[in-house]
Amino acid sequence: MPPRSTSSETPVDHLTPDEARIEHERLGAEIREHDRRYYEEDAPSVSDAEYDALRKRYEALEDQFPELKTPESLTQKVGSKVSEKFGKIRHRVPMLSLANGFADEEVEEFVERIRRFLQWKADAPLAFTAEPKIDGLSLSLRYEGGRLVSAATRGDGAVGEDVTNNARTVGDIPHRLKGSSVPETLEVRGEVYLSHEDFAAINARQEAAGKALFANPRNAAAGSLRQLDSSITASRPLRFFAYAWGDVSEMPADTQHGMMECFRSFGLKVNPLTRRCTSVAEMLEHYHAIETDRANLGYDIDGVVYKVDDLNLQQRLGFVSRSPRWALAHKFPAQKAVTVLEGIEINVGRTGSLNPIARLKPVTVGGVVVSNATLHNEDYIKGIGGNGEKIRNGVDIRIGDTVIINRAGDVIPKVLDVVLEKRPADAKPYEFPTTCPACGSHAVREVNPRTGKEDAVRRCTGGLICPAQARERLKHFVSRNAFDIEGMGEQRIDEFYEEGLVQRPQDIFTLQARNARSLKRLENREGWGETSARNLFAAIEARRSIALNRLIFALGIPHVGETSARLLARHFGTFEHLRETAKAAADPASEAHAELTAIGGIGPVVAEAIVEFFKEQHNEEMLDALLAEVTVEAMEAPAAANSPVAGKTVVFTGSLEQMTREEAKAMAERLGAKVAGSVSKKTDIVVAGPGAGSKLAKAAELGLQVMDEDGWFALVGRK
Ligand code: IVH
Repeated sequence: MPPRSTSSETPVDHLTPDEARIEHERLGAEIREHDRRYYEEDAPSVSDAEYDALRKRYEALEDQFPELKTPESLTQKVGSKVSEKFGKIRHRVPMLSLANGFADEEVEEFVERIRRFLQWKADAPLAFTAEPKIDGLSLSLRYEGGRLVSAATRGDGAVGEDVTNNARTVGDIPHRLKGSSVPETLEVRGEVYLSHEDFAAINARQEAAGKALFANPRNAAAGSLRQLDSSITASRPLRFFAYAWGDVSEMPADTQHGMMECFRSFGLKVNPLTRRCTSVAEMLEHYHAIETDRANLGYDIDGVVYKVDDLNLQQRLGFVSRSPRWALAHKFPAQKAVTVLEGIEINVGRTGSLNPIARLKPVTVGGVVVSNATLHNEDYIKGIGGNGEKIRNGVDIRIGDTVIINRAGDVIPKVLDVVLEKRPADAKPYEFPTTCPACGSHAVREVNPRTGKEDAVRRCTGGLICPAQARERLKHFVSRNAFDIEGMGEQRIDEFYEEGLVQRPQDIFTLQARNARSLKRLENREGWGETSARNLFAAIEARRSIALNRLIFALGIPHVGETSARLLARHFGTFEHLRETAKAAADPASEAHAELTAIGGIGPVVAEAIVEFFKEQHNEEMLDALLAEVTVEAMEAPAAANSPVAGKTVVFTGSLEQMTREEAKAMAERLGAKVAGSVSKKTDIVVAGPGAGSKLAKAAELGLQVMDEDGWFALVGRK
């Protein structure tokens, strides 16, 4: 029996290695997509808690199946990819993240862990600072000679985006630091954020201008800082708190709180709720005090950060993978509010899923107004959990009910519970539709043949005839990592679809020609000028040539995310090759089938979905029409063949700061180089980081080519 796509409820130790690999890959693709939405589009589509759950599961899979922990794994990377639109700045000191804890006991464990690491007795004095964890986005400001010279976002932790011009428009960020003790070079790190009041005003302006609203202050801050046009940033009253540092030429203090005092004297804003604590009890006391004050602060915070005060100790404690051992983010539980459920609407997704959305009487949660929340799925509304168990004591959710919702810096708030005592006599039980609200087709819950369990999601069976699915597919087709057609946003697709202008992918590429012949020309539409139409046509023309992996991803084949699309593109090289193989693979005994399922990273579930896709006559027709309009760029030959290090033997020595050892090795091998552990006459290149010793000496003796990490990146033209 081939492994099936497992549900994320199956305990990891019940999975076979194959099943784990498939789920790990699927989760990886999903997490990458959420990362992209979060970091590149500032428009996340899942809550923080859901995201955390995905990551947790991903890590659990790796713990159980260590072979999944490759250098490509997400667990080996920090933060996001750097967006293409800004210049890049390499952080001289990486920007890392913080370990999280929720329960008070975790704070105790954190302190104990530190004592153990330092081999200190339980009563040896140990001080910490405690300060609010600001829910914004981190920024690194570089001052040279006291002047602000650059500002960079965190990016992937190693390389961030150059947002210097935008940072200069932020009132809390001084262009010049005050005082005589300002170090010659000083990188100040802190958080850019928006106050609740300013966030509400920005959204009001967005609404008046007919633009999309920001989900929360953090997204609005990110969207404002990452503007190509600084005048837009300037019009948004961003604020900044400093709380850490990167590269510093001479340290002006030897404690965390001392550094904050210096920062304050230099003219930077430091959070006034920063305290020095000398016991766990004091730390927790401050945590609870801040939590009590949370709603009155006027800006979003999502926890309290504790840091070891003594900088020498910080140094000794160092880092564990992505975060310092000397710090902990003690997160707050989600903020809750009570309101009335006024209605339930169904959104139909790209794959036909019927997603229930709660329409709520608007309510303020932690300073932000919420009027929609997710209800997950049919069973959730009924009071049934993912494994058929009762949730909320089996109480269903009815229209008219008073409900408890939460928001944890979340994008999509959730309906958590019903206040049963407040249920009005006329509260209406909700009947989940069994037909699709968009096309009227049957909506069914499929049964998983392996587990015999009903899928939690009810799906429309309308396929091609369902306008909602068609629209969602088109939105996917034009989205950023697919065809990336600028000016074809979600709203535009909805309009064009309604008007019958674009209903299938191929229609996009005939739009201009049809427009020229049409009486109802685009230029005559309300809110459209000649320029809008011209820009849109230009954007479409620019995509008549498309990279193979993007095309494959754009097709929206179930289970084929960006990663699988890339693997397929790399394997097949041309679209025709993929198409022929996929069609031939309909016969499970064929060579083509064997080829498809043997591609590394393409599991049986993905392979099956590909075969199914190419079996469909209507997909064939769509592809023929589409390929008549666009040119598919063949996949680049694997980098190895033409890389400057192909065939060379490389030795990495010393401590690498911008990549892990495994990453370095994987990168070199990907580029066709061999990686050796020791230096000999056969070595071609030695990449030496700080602290390199005998290997470096030997390389010098042999007259080998030696370079540092930057030199290596320059040589290989990083990524
Ligand atoms: S210290 C090496 N302090 O939280 C760690 N971070 O989850 C340096 N954040 O990327 C960070 N408030 O964006 C620190 N008071 C605070 C913070 C804070 C918010 C953010 C920061 C960081 C993220 C880590």
